[in-house]
Amino acid sequence: MTKPVLKAIYKRRSVREFNNESVKIEDLREIVKAGSWAPSGLNNQPWRFVLITDTETKSQLADQTRYGHVIRGAPALIAVFLAIEDIYNEVKDHQATGACIQNMLLAAEELGLGAVWLGEILNRKDQVNRIIEVGDDYDLMAIVAVGHPVDRSRGSKRKELNSLIIKEILEDS
Ligand SMILES: Cc1cc2nc3c(=O)[nH]c(=O)nc-3n(C[C@H](O)[C@H](O)[C@H](O)COP(=O)(O)O)c2cc1C
Repeated sequence: MTKPVLKAIYKRRSVREFNNESVKIEDLREIVKAGSWAPSGLNNQPWRFVLITDTETKSQLADQTRYGHVIRGAPALIAVFLAIEDIYNEVKDHQATGACIQNMLLAAEELGLGAVWLGEILNRKDQVNRIIEVGDDYDLMAIVAVGHPVDRSRGSKRKELNSLIIKEILEDS
């Protein structure tokens, strides 16, 4: 397929197992930059990021979620926050942050890395903010675990397209 964006969309899978190779800081910054180029309402760019490779910090974060094994095994984490003072519309700002995170996953794919969007840890978002010393003016949206995948062959499934399209209201041809 010559269409690189579609190729990345279809090839990307959540990666939860990583080898020991570290992730270059430039790659982490590129992933965050790609996130920052997501669309947002009024272009308000409400997202903020914390980049983490420190083992002790990862270990403390791992203790906050049942996906701790993923966090512990990932060479790098990116915590994604919504800056509360930048919110102009709750729904739209959350949607924009979701678009940001998806951009980050696709950027990781393009860079030959693997990543997974971790949401279960939001149950302990206050503890996460405390561990990484971020104030409560930042609302945790996700932690993205990043690394070099052990296995790229994991599949995934999607509902049949026809079952997702409620209807098509088309011009008569
Ligand atoms: C909002 C959200 C929260 C998620 N939370 C977790 C999580 O806590 N742990 C996890 O392993 N995967 C999590 N995922 C990844 C999904 O399980 C995954 O995207 C889905 O199963 C489809 O698989 P694929 O990404 O490989 O296509 C989350 C994804 C989203 C969008």
